[in-house]
Formats: sequence, structure tokens, C-alpha cells
Amino acid sequence: MSAPKKLFIKTYGCQMNVYDSERMAEALGGEGYVETKSPDDADMILLNTCHIREKAAEKVYSELGRFKGLKAEKPDLKIGVAGCVAQAEGQEIMRRQPLVDLVVGPQSYHRLPEMEAKAREGEKVLDTDFPEEDKFEKLKNRPKAKRGPTAFLTVQEGCDKFCAFCVVPYTRGAEVSRPADRILREAQDLVERGVREITLLGQNVNAYHGAGPNGDMTLAQLIWELDKVDGLERIRFTTSHPNDMQDDLIEAHGTCAKLMPYLHLPVQAGSDKILKRMNRAHTAESYLRLIERIRAARPDILISGDFIVGFPEETEADFQATLDLVEEVKYGTAYSFKYSTRPGTPAAERPQVDPKEADDRLQRLQALLTTQQREVQDSMVGRDVTVLFEKAGRFPGQMVGKSDYLHAVHVADCDRAIGDLARVRILSSGANSLAGALID
Ligand code: SAH
Ligand code: SF4
Ligand code: F3S
Repeated sequence: MSAPKKLFIKTYGCQMNVYDSERMAEALGGEGYVETKSPDDADMILLNTCHIREKAAEKVYSELGRFKGLKAEKPDLKIGVAGCVAQAEGQEIMRRQPLVDLVVGPQSYHRLPEMEAKAREGEKVLDTDFPEEDKFEKLKNRPKAKRGPTAFLTVQEGCDKFCAFCVVPYTRGAEVSRPADRILREAQDLVERGVREITLLGQNVNAYHGAGPNGDMTLAQLIWELDKVDGLERIRFTTSHPNDMQDDLIEAHGTCAKLMPYLHLPVQAGSDKILKRMNRAHTAESYLRLIERIRAARPDILISGDFIVGFPEETEADFQATLDLVEEVKYGTAYSFKYSTRPGTPAAERPQVDPKEADDRLQRLQALLTTQQREVQDSMVGRDVTVLFEKAGRFPGQMVGKSDYLHAVHVADCDRAIGDLARVRILSSGANSLAGALID
């Protein structure tokens, strides 16, 4: 038997890309590939790319350039580009970078085995279709390998919201939900392989409306079905849109014990003028009222968010409204970005904010968010949390895991194994993590 071929995948962007990279590795696993951690000994290199901001997209070209030497040494090496840059700029990539043998969009991963075979014969292959067939069904021939205690599971993909700054509706296509029975089967399979915590993924996950036994199901209904899966201990989901935060989902945060007290609910900006121009279809006030209702259902919930500063026509007063909103919400974590012009999106054509001004706003926003994050993390000291252990720590006897609130927690003198859940008393709060001790 010939030695297995080696596959190196580098993943950029969001959690869905992480999930997709696993699926691509499985699809090529059926073709005799095993994964390697280094591009140097790879027979195939795949870059799973992100198009959300200009910097992210440009990274792909510089990364590809670095493989020139490798390809010269090893003419049989195949190089592929997958993900959202592949979808948006497939032809352009082929033209700009002759090293590339294969371009595959996010909806065509299940066709990778055939594409790989063609590339092996020296063909250049590009597939950025939005095919009719269900790629998830075609990707089922996965090996039953044991895996770590946490996993992602895509339940919904694509977006119909068309925020004026965002490429996702173009790169991931229209919003589609997977049928519930397939998700439940996949969850069951993950649990059999050692998974204790599943994060349900979707670009607009709370708009989930997949087919169930009695018609379409909501995300909350799906979560209640997952709640029945023995051995599955924790459920999370991301990313939600404020306008799809339905009553039954808010209620589930108060009543479903397996649903973790953490919610990523991006607002993007605090000025109604800017929200309107972003095509967000909610106001600052409606967002704040929504947060109130969620906290009424689950008072200790940790709220996380995304922000864009320097969106076209954002004034200092508009930016101040973002700071005011942040002050009111008190975020446990947050991601903030300087607006990046994306060709083909409506906002790209509008008057842009001076980049220096935008940099300055980003720094001020991040300073506030960091302070809040710190305060929320520090407020955990003295409290008892449940930790799911994910790996050994740096010191002998130390284990590291995540609390219900998704804080990293280090526990010394810990006799628990990876995948165990334990009650832990939080003793101190460090730069990016908490430290605690097991409660017997
Ligand atoms: N579907 C999710 C996340 C989309 S992308 C949602 O609706 O919130 C993740 C984040 O990237 C967004 O929430 C937004 O804050 C940021 N983002 C998207 N497009 C951007 C752009 N053109 N410039 C800067 N940040 C952007
Ligand atoms: Fe992009 Fe999210 Fe807006 Fe959809 S809802 S367009 S994914 S920011
Ligand atoms: Fe990036 Fe595509 Fe995700 S653009 S954020 S990889 S959906």
C-alpha cells in the first residue's frame, strides 16, 4: 500500500470556516489523505479563506506567494483556495496566482474528491456554484474517530439580511436551514465520539427554520430536541441577529439547563441614523429593550457583541451614541472593527470617514470594551462555576477548560480528565483567564 497523502489546511475567518475545514479534511480523507500540521511535507495545501474585511482577503495572496519555493521543489504539490475569498474572487485568484490548482466555494466542498482527481491530472479546477444537492448529506462518510469535548455543528448557512457593509450574503448565499433530523443525527454521532459541548453555527443562527417532523422548527425547538441527547452536556449557538431573537429562544435561556448563559448578539452601532444606513432594521432602543428581556429570563447571561466604527457618514456624535449603548449594555466580550470597504456592497459607494478618525474611534471603543470585559471577568472571583476541561495546562497537575460563561479557567491540582465537567470556585482573575479550585 502506498503511503497516505498529506493534507495541510489553514483556516481563516469565522467558526463556520473551522467546521468547513473539518468537513473538507473528511471529504479528502476518503481519498487517502491524512492531515499534517506543516505545509512543508504536504501533497495538498488548502487555504480556507475569509472575505469579511479587506485585510483578511489580501492575506490570501501573500500566503500563496510563500508557497512558491515549496511548489518549485515539489511539482506534485497541489494548492487550493476554499472559503469566502474563493467564492468572491475565484477567477481573479486563478489569474493573479498561477500556483493555484483548485478553487472551491463554500457550497461545493462535497465535490472536492472529484476536483482533487482532476487537479492531479494537471487540470485547473474551479467550482463556485451554489448547487441544488445537499452538501452536508454528501459529506457523511466520516471516520468514527474520537474527538475533543467541544465541537461546532452548522445548522443554518447564508444570510438574507444584506447589511450594507457585509459580503456574507454574496459569499455564503441565501439563508438555508438544515433539516432537524440530520442535525440530531450529527449531534448524536459527535457525542458518541466524545463531544460534550456543541456550538450550533449559522450566519444568522436564530433565524433557523429547518424542517422537523411537524413542520418547520425554531432554533429553540431544535435546542430542546438536543437537550434530550444523553451525554451532551452543553449547547451554545452563534451568531444571532437582534431581529430574529424570538420569544421561545429568550425563554429557553431561562429554562433549558444545557443552554449556556452566553449570547453573542451583534449590534454594530449605537446611532439610529447609522443603523438605518447599515440596513440593520433595528434601533439602539429596540436592541436595549431586547437585552433587558433576555436578562429578565436569565439574569447572569454574558452578552457579547460586534461593532463597526467609521461606517460611511458616521459623525463624532454618532460614535458617541455607540459608546453610550456600550455603557448601558455592559459587554462580557466584544469584537470591534474599523469599517472596511467591500467592493459590491452598497456602503462601498458612500462618502468614507477619514481613516485616522476611524482609528481613533476604534481605540476609544476598544478601551471601553476592554474595561467592561475586565470588570465582568473580575466579577467572577468568589463565584462557583461549572468547567468543561479541554486540555492539560502548562504546569504539572493543571487543567484548563471553559466556564458556562465561556471564560477560560485554569485549575491547579486537578485530577479530572479532558471532557470532565466539574464545579470550580473562582479564586483569581488574570489577564485573559480565571484561576480556580475544584469544589469537592
Ligand atoms: N452574521 C453575523 C456576523 C457577520 S461577520 C452578524 O450578523 O452579526 C462578523 C462581523 O464582522 C460583523 O458582525 C461585523 O461587525 C464585522 N464586519 C462585517 N463586515 C464588515 C466590514 N465591511 N468592515 C468591518 N467589519 C465588518
Ligand atoms: Fe452580514 Fe450578519 Fe448582516 Fe447577514 S446579518 S448581512 S451576515 S452582518
Ligand atoms: Fe469570513 Fe466567510 Fe466567515 S467572509 S467571517 S469566512 S462567512
